[in-house]
Amino acid sequence: MKIDILSLFPEMFDGAFSHSIIKRAKEKGLAEIRLFNIRDWSAGKHKTVDDYAFGGGAGMVMMIEPISRCIEELREKTVYDEVIYMSPDGELLEQNMANRLSLSQNLLILCGHYKGIDERIREHFITREISIGDYVLSGGELAAAVLTDTIVRLLPGVLNDETSALSDSFQNNLLSPPVYTRPSDFRGWKVPDILLSGNDREIVKWKHEQSILRTKLRRPGLLPSDILISDI
Ligand code: ADE
Repeated sequence: MKIDILSLFPEMFDGAFSHSIIKRAKEKGLAEIRLFNIRDWSAGKHKTVDDYAFGGGAGMVMMIEPISRCIEELREKTVYDEVIYMSPDGELLEQNMANRLSLSQNLLILCGHYKGIDERIREHFITREISIGDYVLSGGELAAAVLTDTIVRLLPGVLNDETSALSDSFQNNLLSPPVYTRPSDFRGWKVPDILLSGNDREIVKWKHEQSILRTKLRRPGLLPSDILISDI
């Protein structure tokens, strides 16, 4: 998969994309992530990328020319499944959306700044707007890094144990059960006996029950309707 990210601050991605899972996905050739600085598409001598809003109001607006030039140039060589704008106005990012986007060949993600981007970019270039939560970030970069991470880790071959993404919280609308590792007894705080029992059937059952219980306590709205809470 190829993910092209357009930003005024591409350096913001350096840390997020050079470690752990994303780093491995890039090294294995499973994900190609390209960063483009929108300023490089500004024609002006001063490389201006923003201007005052028509009609007044506080804050600068990202101009249409550099962004449209950049997108159009990239589109000459790449057909994008989606041209995404990261925005608090967008659809809320959820696991299902990440699952579906992970089937794409090419994605373009545009990061906004200041008061946002000229509305005509949204009307004529953007196919999808995505928010990572009901709060306002100073720009779209952190949100784009979150979106990229949720997608890239789902690509086949990225995670060592291919099944591990399937057992993540949210994949079946349930939160993950608690997990433990050695030592089995720390200061008298013991790992549940069942996990040390070696009884695989009972362990699977226990984990499922714990998932349901945890979801019921912390995120009851996620619980699938076919789960009988009274059974737990
Ligand atoms: N840009 C600013 N805030 C954002 C958010 N919550 N989600 C996505 N992009 C954003």
